Amino acid sequence: MRGEGFVQLDRNTPSLVNARLNRWFGWDGAADSLWSQSIRPIVDKREMAASTTHVGALVRGDERLAERYRAVFGSAPADNDTVMVNVGKALAAYQETLVSGRTPFDGFRDAVAGGDRGAADRYPAAAQRGLKIFVGKGNCSVCHFGPNFTNGEFGDIGIPFFAAPGRVDPGRYEGIRKLLASRANLLGAYNDDPARAPATGTRHVTLEHRNWGEFRVPGLRNVAGTAPYMHNGQLATLRDVVRHYSELNEERLHADGEKILKPLRLSPAEADDLVAFLESLTAADPVSY
Ligand code: HEC
Repeated sequence: MRGEGFVQLDRNTPSLVNARLNRWFGWDGAADSLWSQSIRPIVDKREMAASTTHVGALVRGDERLAERYRAVFGSAPADNDTVMVNVGKALAAYQETLVSGRTPFDGFRDAVAGGDRGAADRYPAAAQRGLKIFVGKGNCSVCHFGPNFTNGEFGDIGIPFFAAPGRVDPGRYEGIRKLLASRANLLGAYNDDPARAPATGTRHVTLEHRNWGEFRVPGLRNVAGTAPYMHNGQLATLRDVVRHYSELNEERLHADGEKILKPLRLSPAEADDLVAFLESLTAADPVSY
């Protein structure tokens, strides 16, 4: 759903499960680490509307909190910026424990890899047909691939970028500007790696016109449990998502979107199969411990 903080937000709140696998964070990739992403909602005026001054005073002012902070970070809470960054790192450490469980698709993949025909046959036939579309004529796996079913980058698949009449969500275009301007990006002093090795991606980001209206390719694990869909939550069900890809507006897309996408024109039976496949990416236990 679109989040609600101090105001109703423009974007659909993403799941935190498997967030640790992301390369970029937020729908627009404005953060390059889970810890810097975790600071944003705290200080965003529309979300929690706190400030680094407030957070710094809170941690320094509470004896037990200050003591635990010292135990974890090795020194007493000092300046506000450092405390804020460390709060972000603590929040990230927790979120990294949120990992999705095994899915029917994982069972099928392992059965096929191990040559276990009996186990493979337990995966529904509709999902098997949907998988063929996903990796075949649907072209889905061009962007949604790997363990978390995403290339980790950004695309424009023709979802409108008007957030409200007269107000546009520029997506990745704005995200890159924010990323490069942020003191909490991995190129900055708060990166724990002295060699700044994880910052390679950030160092090579350049702002281009095509980034306008691009959003992060979401991972698809647990997707049956995370409706509504897309950055603005405008599609209510997986069936609506499949319909979107089936009936894409080619004129809009080829003006400024992904050239690889074309309307799939799936039959109702094919659409059912693709939905069955997407549902099979969802674990009975959304988080495994
Ligand atoms: C060119 C890259 C690309 C291709 C190809 C592609 N997708 Fe996507 N997909 C995206 C992007 C980018 C988004 C997010 C768009 C947005 O929010 O504006 C997305 C969103 C989704 C979502 C919503 C997930 C969520 O949590 O909101 C689903 C489901 C999905 N795609 C399934 C598919 C299927 C099925 C196919 C094949 C028919 C497919 N995708 C093909 C890039 C792609």
